[in-house]
Order: sequence, then C-alpha cells, then structure tokens
Amino acid sequence: MSTSRPAAVVVLAAGEGTRMKSATPKVLHDICGRSLVGHVLAAAGELQPEQLVVVVGHAREKVTEHLAGVAPEVRTAVQAEQNGTGHAVRMGLEELGGRVEGTVVVVCGDTPLLTGETLRRLSATHSADGNAVTVLTAEVPDATGYGRIVRDDSGAVTAIVEHKDASETQRAIREINSGVFAFDGALLADALKKVRTDNSQGEEYLTDVLGILREAGHRVGASVAGDHREIAGINNRVQLSEARRILNDRLLTAAMLSGVTVIDPATTWVDVTVTFEQDAVVHPGTQLHGATHLGEGCEVGPNSRLTDTRVGAGARVDNTVAVGSEVGPEASVGPYAYLRPGSRLARKAKIGTYVETKNASIGEGTKVPHLSYVGDATIGEFSNIGAASVFVNYDGQDKHHTTVGSHCKTGSDNMFVAPVTIGDGAYTAAGSVITKDVPAGSLAVARGQQRNIEGWVARKRPGSAAAKAAEAASREPAGEG
Ligand code: UD1
Ligand code: CA
Repeated sequence: MSTSRPAAVVVLAAGEGTRMKSATPKVLHDICGRSLVGHVLAAAGELQPEQLVVVVGHAREKVTEHLAGVAPEVRTAVQAEQNGTGHAVRMGLEELGGRVEGTVVVVCGDTPLLTGETLRRLSATHSADGNAVTVLTAEVPDATGYGRIVRDDSGAVTAIVEHKDASETQRAIREINSGVFAFDGALLADALKKVRTDNSQGEEYLTDVLGILREAGHRVGASVAGDHREIAGINNRVQLSEARRILNDRLLTAAMLSGVTVIDPATTWVDVTVTFEQDAVVHPGTQLHGATHLGEGCEVGPNSRLTDTRVGAGARVDNTVAVGSEVGPEASVGPYAYLRPGSRLARKAKIGTYVETKNASIGEGTKVPHLSYVGDATIGEFSNIGAASVFVNYDGQDKHHTTVGSHCKTGSDNMFVAPVTIGDGAYTAAGSVITKDVPAGSLAVARGQQRNIEGWVARKRPGSAAAKAAEAASREPAGEG
C-alpha cells in the first residue's frame, strides 16, 4: 500500500450543529476524552500531511481556542458564512495559498469514528488509480439525508446527488457519500471555481466537484469503507452517545486482545489516552480517564473513577476516586477512598476505607487504614496512622506540611497540626492533638488527663436507667461479669 503523504488535509468544522441544542460548538463535544474534531485530527494526523487546516465558522473563537490547546500545529481558515461544503474547502485552500500541488484530503469535523487506517486506504486507492478525486463511500441501512453515489452501468461513479436534490430512483441508492475525499489539489482548486449554487439549498456543494472533474475527462473513483458506522457524522446527542459506545467498545476490545480482563465492557468507560499492561483486571462500573495507566496484574474497581492516575503492578484499587495520583506496586486503596492530586503511594502502601489524601507521599508498606484525611504530608516507610486521624494542613490562610518518619505508630483520632514533624520510630497516644514536633523514638501524649467523678450518676440522675444499672453493677461481686 502506498504511503505517500498528502500535501494537505482540510477539516470542515464551520457548521453550526443546531441539532445538538448546546452552548458548546458541536465539534467540541467530547467522546472518550477527546473532542469530536480532536478525533478527526488524530485520524488525519496518521496520514502525516504536510499541512493541516481546519475551516472554522460558527463559534469560531471557541473552536480556534480549543485547537490552539490540543493541536497547536494546525492552521485555521475562517468561513464567515456557511455557504456550503464547496465554499468551505475554498476557504481552506485560500489559507494554504489558494492552490496546493499534490493530494488534498477533505474530512468533516464531526465524524469521530473515522480511522487513520480508512484514510490511508482512501489515499492509497487515490494514488494507485491516478484519480482526480476519490470519494469515501459506504453502504448504509438508512441513507436518508446523505448524498447518494450515482454509478453508471460499468460501476464507475458519475455523480453525487444530495438527498434534497435526488429523484425517487436515486433515493433508493444505499451507497452514500461519507463527506471524505482525496483530491488532486490543483484540479480541486480549478473545479471549485466552477461550482454553482443552483441547488435546493442555494449552496456551493463540494460534491459537485466530482461531476465537474468527470465531465472534464478526469478519473473519478471511490473507496468503500468496510464499516459504515465509521463514517457516521454526529448531529445530535443520541448519535453522540452511540458514537461514544462504539469507540469505547473499540478501545476495550483492543485492551482485551492485548491481555486485559474487562469483566463488564457495558459499564466500563475509557478514554483514548488510557494505557494498560497485561493481566490488568477492570471490574464493573469503572471509568478510566486521561493519562491513566494500569500496570501488570493490578485490579481496579468495581465502581472506581481514575483520572491521570498510574496504578502499579499487582496493586488493588476498589471503589475509589483518584485524580492525578500514583499507586505503587502491590499497594491497596479503598474501598471508598479518595486520592486527590499529588497522592503518591509507594510499594505495598495502604489507603483504606473512608480515607482522603492530597499532595501526600505515603512510604513503602505504610498504612492509613481508616477514616482519615492526609493532606500535604510526607510519611516514611512502614508506619501506621491510627484510625480517624486528620493532617490539619490549613490555618485558614496557608497550607502547611506534616512529616511523619518511618516505623511510626500514631494513635487513633490524632490531629497533626501542621507544620509538624514526627521522628522515626515515634509513637503518639490516641486522641492526641499534636502541635509540637515529636523526637524520634518518643511517645507523645497531647490530651487532657482523665478524671472519674465517682457516684455522679446516682447523685445527679437518681432513678434513671443508668443509675439502676450502676447500682446493680455495684452489687455484683468483684471479679465477675
Ligand atoms: C454532506 C454532503 C453529503 C454527505 C454528508 C455526509 C455536501 C453538499 N453534502 O451533507 O453528500 O452525504 O455530508 O455526512 O457536501 N460545513 C462547513 N461549511 C459549510 C457547510 C458545511 O464547514 O458551509 C461543514 C460542517 O461543519 C460539517 C461538514 O461540512 O462538518 C458537512 O456539512 P453538513 O451540513 O453536515 O453536510 P450534509 O448536509 O450532512
Ligand atoms: Ca452532516
């Protein structure tokens, strides 16, 4: 297969997308962690074109700003009024100097399922057959609304007729124009000048270029897409969700074929940027976003949402929300944990039930098993943080850091009022409010002394159930019960 690089790819994204009923421009809606136009650019990028231009129009400030963020190398051309796909391509070419020698590929910005592979096949057919234009087509179950591919008795493509302009016989055709083309750039520029607007929509149709080139005696060809779902344009939120489902299935299928166990693909959602190693297991109800990476043999889920989080080999993450965190090999998180940005768990660390961490380094084998908040902290190796402890990091104005050494055992219900440092091997008593540094190897006790006022219940709550229970207890011989 030819690997010739196209001279340019033109992405059409000026349309309004009214049927989305959204304040967000259509091509900026997201599926699997990328905007619709972002997916198209990724597929187009696989062709390694010399130039890439996106034609923007409706809501162009937002679209341009988005493109500058995700694809700064891409150029934009403005189509101030949406006078049709032919006009849009003309605006795109103008941005590239009006005329491009070599192959020009045109794609729509709202077809996120289009693959680089299909574009490569189109491009290769185009070069191999020496065509002036090659259109990507597909057989669809319902062709309503699409331009129909008209072929002659020999099977050669003669024209594309828009649904609104088609005859009854033409409307019966199920082979449709995907809106994706490969053109000879010079012939395209000339033909676009001849496109007229005498059609039902009063627009410059890009599709007319095909007939114009054919009448001028040039070769016109077609490349039929293997899977018609790939070329589906998104027009409303139903189609958006269908496309997301298809793309998600594609990503999970690839993951499973590479050795990942996905227990329930129906309730597992992943972004295109998520990566896996062999024998990772994903339990039901799990969403993996951004630069999340699952290491070898780790298990994630059920019911977990991980964003930009790396999970080490053999780690276990259960019913957890994690953002911008790192879970070391064989570490254990959850159930019901929340790892906020900057949480870094070393090997075999444990963050247990109802524990929240933020900007915290948890050393190898260190455990924070229950009901705690660890914010802005560094904890060494093999320490144990007692249940219901809070790293008091905020004085109402600034955040402060707490350092806990290695092999420490802190009591339950401790408050570590930062900035504070607990030395290696130190202990703290349950219920302590630690406001001063604890030297290595000491026991810190920072709580009120216990005082028992005997007979208080009998005096202050006479006749109560408590008083009766106390009296009964006082009659029992010592050493029993
Ligand atoms: C177009 C094709 C049709 C094809 C269908 C595939 C034409 C005349 N028709 O129809 O044959 O079956 O796509 O989905 O080409 N756009 C602009 N500027 C414009 C008009 C459109 O940038 O002035 C962009 C839109 O944002 C969109 C793409 O071009 O990304 C297609 O436009 P759309 O209006 O959806 O064309 P269809 O009527 O669906
Ligand atoms: Ca369309």
